[in-house]
Amino acid sequence: MRPGDVIQTKRDRGELSPGQIHAFVSAAASLEGSGWKTYHLTALLMAIYLNDMTPGETAHLTRAMANSGKYLDLSDIDGPKIDKHSTGGVGDKTSLIVGPLAAACGVVVPMMSGRGLGHSGGTLDKLESIPGFNVHLTEAEFRTALKNVGLGMIGQTADIAPADKMLYALRDVTATVESIPLITASILSKKLSEGTSGLVMDVKSGVGAFMKSRERSHELAQSIVKVGTANGLKVIALITAMDTPLGDAVGNSLEVVESIETLNGNGPKDLTELSVTLAARMVRLAFGGTDADADAQVRRALSSGAGLEVFRKCVEQQGGDPRVIDDYTLLPATNVAVHVNTDCTGYITTIDAEKVGVAVRMLGGGRSRAEDTIDPAVGIIVRAKPGERVTPSDSVFEVHYRDGAKLAAAMPMLAKAFQIDDTPPSELPLILEEIA
Ligand code: URA
Repeated sequence: MRPGDVIQTKRDRGELSPGQIHAFVSAAASLEGSGWKTYHLTALLMAIYLNDMTPGETAHLTRAMANSGKYLDLSDIDGPKIDKHSTGGVGDKTSLIVGPLAAACGVVVPMMSGRGLGHSGGTLDKLESIPGFNVHLTEAEFRTALKNVGLGMIGQTADIAPADKMLYALRDVTATVESIPLITASILSKKLSEGTSGLVMDVKSGVGAFMKSRERSHELAQSIVKVGTANGLKVIALITAMDTPLGDAVGNSLEVVESIETLNGNGPKDLTELSVTLAARMVRLAFGGTDADADAQVRRALSSGAGLEVFRKCVEQQGGDPRVIDDYTLLPATNVAVHVNTDCTGYITTIDAEKVGVAVRMLGGGRSRAEDTIDPAVGIIVRAKPGERVTPSDSVFEVHYRDGAKLAAAMPMLAKAFQIDDTPPSELPLILEEIA
């Protein structure tokens, strides 16, 4: 099968056969001897981006990408295995809260997460700001974590869906990330491989998300639920607002502090509510029953401190310093902060999540390219959220920076990231829709 013929099929809006999809994915997993070159892969990715895929093609692509590597068999570990995954946002640290809460309720949580890229943050980067925390566990260590703690938080290993590793890296540099079939296959191939039996998806929607419009978010959520279910996964998708950063903290170390505060019962309302809802859906997928029962169980795990204890054990199990839970001075910090203040009186109407995410990246807290290194200590605390009344010289952002030149570059972005009006904005729901 000539790569050019496969590309031509999709270029001309045709449907790729299972054989054509298999050839493409095999080449992505191992180019050598495949007859494919990187330029064939990227041309086909662009053709898929532009001309889409049918649900049948997306299902084949997902399965082929999962089959490109190994499957973890977690059947020897007692208990229902349920993961949670977000399509990515700004200030989205729910994994650090949801995983421990669900595990405290008896769910086994094999969580395979990603790194931050562009304006959005990543769970692995947040966890790595805890001194010693190892996200590269061997399979044996991952199993031990799941057995001992009920929670393991790791990155994609070399033998899980290797085709996705290659394709994701190419998409990232060829403007082909925001494709519904490609995102569906990328996320679900990893979830099918990691040995989970259920998945709660948090599909972000809004200016700070991959999917900016509600319609596209709905399409993506439906695609993930359909393809996941067809492949034997139990899937619930929530579409949640990502116009404003979630919680107050944006930046890796600062987000760890906010996650611990939330597990201590002192978290911001939006972050706490979304985390409880996501964990409750995991509990319901695991054990059945009603949403109300699952919600009550998760709230007990939060108020009793059981979730926080799971997080402490998780940090310890994965080589991190568990003393950070009680002593935030052990986390990376810049020890210098400046404020971005208002110059008028009124109500905050917008805090633009994407601009805040870009500003954190400019401070050194995120990546422009996958190989960039990041500074875990820098970040932003949002001091005034939409709906709050402010007067001149009130602080909107507290900016934790290390490098004066980077601060100077980020400040204009932050000045544009908020708007003030005489009338308060109408309160918008955080959870927009649920698809199961
Ligand atoms: N997360 C993934 O793992 N893959 C995508 O394509 C987008 C978000």
